[in-house]
Order: sequence, then C-alpha cells, then structure tokens
Amino acid sequence: MSRRFDDYFEKKTILITGAASGIGRAAAVLFAKQGANVVCSDVDDKLGHETLALVQKAGAEGIYVHADVTSRQEVRALVKQAIQTFGKISFLFNSAGSAINRCSFLDIDDALLDKTFNLNFKGTFYAMQEVLPNMLENKHGVIINMASMAQKRGGPGTSVHYASAKGAINTLTLGVAREFASRGIRCLSISPGPIETAFQAASNTTKEMSDKFAADIPLGRIGQPEEIAELALFMCSNACEYMTADTVYVSGGGGWK
Ligand SMILES: NC(=O)c1ccc[n+]([C@@H]2O[C@H](COP(=O)([O-])OP(=O)(O)OC[C@H]3O[C@@H](n4cnc5c(N)ncnc54)[C@H](O)[C@@H]3O)[C@@H](O)[C@H]2O)c1
Repeated sequence: MSRRFDDYFEKKTILITGAASGIGRAAAVLFAKQGANVVCSDVDDKLGHETLALVQKAGAEGIYVHADVTSRQEVRALVKQAIQTFGKISFLFNSAGSAINRCSFLDIDDALLDKTFNLNFKGTFYAMQEVLPNMLENKHGVIINMASMAQKRGGPGTSVHYASAKGAINTLTLGVAREFASRGIRCLSISPGPIETAFQAASNTTKEMSDKFAADIPLGRIGQPEEIAELALFMCSNACEYMTADTVYVSGGGGWK
C-alpha cells in the first residue's frame, strides 16, 4: 500500500486500546503500513499478540502491553511503558469498548450500568488523562475516541446504558479538545453505525437485531473495520488540522434503528 501522507506518520507513535480485535486491530495495521510505531493494548493477550505480529509484518515497530482500561493503574503502566519504549506518543486511539449486554431500560441494573460506563467512558477518560501530559510536553497530539451512532438515537429498547456512555464520550471529547486546542492538541470522536466485528457478539446482538440494522442502511451493507481505521488515520494526519472537538458519523446513511 502506498503512503497516504508522505512520511508524516513515519516513526510517530500511536497507542491503541482494544487493539486485539475489530476496529482497533484494523487501525493498528493501517498505521503500521504508514510507518508509525504501534503500541497495541488489550485484555485479550492472545489476539493482542496476533495484532502485534501483523504490525511487524507491515514493517513497523510495535509492542503489545496487557492493560484493562477500567483500571487507572494498568492504564498508567501502559502509558509509562509506551513512553519508555518510543519516547513520545503522538496519537491515542481509544477503541476498547462494548455494549456488554442488550436489554430494555427498566432491566438495566447497577452492575450493567457500572460495567458499561467503566469500560466505555472511564476507560477512555483514564487513557486521555494519562497520555495528555506527554502530548502537552511535545506540544502535539491527536486523540481519537470511539463513540457510536447509538448516542444519536439513544438505544431505545436495547442499549440506553451504552448509548449514554457513548454520549458522555462525545462530551468528554468536546471538552478536552476545547481546553487544550491552543496547546497543540486535537481531539475527535467517531460515531459508527454497525460495523462487522466481534463487538456484536460481545454485545449480545441477536440475529434479528443485526438483520434490522442491515435493512436500515441505504448503502446496502454493514461497514468494515478498515473503513473506520481509514477515518482515524485521516483525523490524525496533517490533512485534518482544522478539525477538533467534533464527532463524525460513519453509518452508510443509516443506523437509526
Ligand atoms: N462494531 C460496531 O458495530 C460498533 C459500532 C459503533 C461503535 N463501536 C465501538 O467501536 C469500538 C471498537 O469496537 P469493535 O467493533 O472493534 O469491537 P471488538 O469487540 O472487535 O473489539 C473491542 C476490543 O476491546 C477489548 N476490550 C474489551 N474490554 C476491555 C478492557 N476492559 N480493557 C481493554 N480492552 C478491552 C476487547 O478485548 C476487544 O479486543 C468500541 O468502543 C465500540 O463500542 C463499534
């Protein structure tokens, strides 16, 4: 694959949470192909090491670090190791996330609510807070957070807990982007409709639900993880320097059901 942005990504470092699978893995491979160093992180060590092998196969340098994003300590240790290995972090891609379980609003119990916010919101918050000092020191950094089309439609009937956590991620993105805009930091989020990854299985999506998602997409198909990775690459690039604080919807025109 040819380089999209000349040598802009060469030897710049990206840290990716949720890199073992789906969108996180696709981003790891795409950034590696552009010459970036890739810090792959996840809780699934087997698949995480597989991603690292793909990064190395693409000719880039990388490391794999186990880190549960719901643990402040583990995220802190991850960032420390990334900085010890590569010196500075130019890009952070918070891809770790899941709807965990689908149910009606009245059935969302405290355990599901806490789990959902800990993984999606706090996991993103911790990584941002731990990485930002390094970016500020270097007067440059781009943070990309994974939100979801769900935050626009609210997840009625199946995932109000998840949609709310993703809505909070967009607010977090907006606030951090605006607070640090004058110090070389950009921060954006991506709000996809359904994408073909293990996420749907991990979120207990039924066949009936995924058929309903697919029928609602004017482009006639569910998205691929590489199509989200391409947007993350553009957002981090020097072709995107006037964009910050916003979310971008990627849904094939649908995603309302
Ligand atoms: N696939 C979709 O339809 C879709 C749509 C909208 C938004 N998203 C969002 O995109 C992001 C990526 O999802 P995906 O589709 O690639 O899913 P995926 O299941 O393929 O990948 C998610 C990864 O996160 C990891 N993970 C789970 N809990 C973790 C934890 N506590 N600490 C660290 N890593 C953890 C998993 O091991 C997995 O490797 C998520 O934030 C998801 O909410 C996905």
